[in-house]
Amino acid sequence: RNPIRLGLLGAGTVGSEVARLLTEQRDELEQRIGRPVEISKIACRHPENVSASWIDTSLLTTDTEYVATHSDIVVELIGGLEPARTLVLNALNSGASVVTANKALLAKYGPEIYRTAEENGVDIYFEAAVGGAIPLIRPLRESLAGDKVTSVLGILNGTTNYILDEMTTKGLDFEVALKDAQDKGYAEADPTGDVEGEDAANKAAIVASLAFHTPVSIDDVAMEGITLITADDIALATAEGKVIKLLAVVANAENGVSARVYPALIPNDHPLASVHGSFNAAFVHAQAADDLMLYGRGAGGAPTASAVMGDIVTVARHIVQGSTGQQISVYGHLPKAPLSSS
Ligand code: HSE
Repeated sequence: RNPIRLGLLGAGTVGSEVARLLTEQRDELEQRIGRPVEISKIACRHPENVSASWIDTSLLTTDTEYVATHSDIVVELIGGLEPARTLVLNALNSGASVVTANKALLAKYGPEIYRTAEENGVDIYFEAAVGGAIPLIRPLRESLAGDKVTSVLGILNGTTNYILDEMTTKGLDFEVALKDAQDKGYAEADPTGDVEGEDAANKAAIVASLAFHTPVSIDDVAMEGITLITADDIALATAEGKVIKLLAVVANAENGVSARVYPALIPNDHPLASVHGSFNAAFVHAQAADDLMLYGRGAGGAPTASAVMGDIVTVARHIVQGSTGQQISVYGHLPKAPLSSS
């Protein structure tokens, strides 16, 4: 059985973890999928800096464009807008299915990317883009697709949740807690996006798009981060029986869809108040389902790699079954070209 060729873009915290799981679990994965999945190439900017012992250095290249266009599955883990956008579009146009963890990319260019996948009859999966290991995208895209989601309250940034939690429970300074979060691999390369709310806002845009079946872009999300939160604010909240959390709040009310990220005061008896450390959670309300809470590790190499691996298995199974491109559409199906009469 021919291996499915998987091209990996990025060999950072998440990429190297994905490479490890693909290598170590090769035989089990082959059993679950029905064909072996083989890493054909790993493209990254600085192959000389890749030191993970399980990565075969002969697979490393700087030629991202080649990897994007010569694979059955492209796993994009380089992050950021460009060159990620061009590489993902080129991959989809070459007939590859794409798995990505890139929240900034989907929050900005989601409609273009989903449309390109649909036009090419290939898959686009992105469970790892929001909430790390927590299955949140599939529940919104599939399980709740027959219900009417009215709101999602999310703790969707592990770095800020960790910082606020350390400040609250240990009285640590903001800077010390941020450094810890960076050392633990939760923060983005530039943590400004974490602490100023942009990372959570990207995730809020993706969640709102899926929950409400309509494109919502990062430009539609109002955001305020946690950089102005002081030890005094935290002490005041504690005295009132509350905690401060950076919340992403998306809602579908009569006056339309709204999406905001801001530091919120949460009463200690609300389920979101007990989300500690780098854990994330989404508190979803849907008309028929009522309240749901999805909870788990929202950041870090291994938890994020878990979600990427789930997407890889799904996409690989579709290739084996010949059902690629039959995934659940993100907003609803585009009109198809008329069938030829011949
Ligand atoms: N920097 C992000 C966070 C990583 O702290 O949640 C996961 O997207």
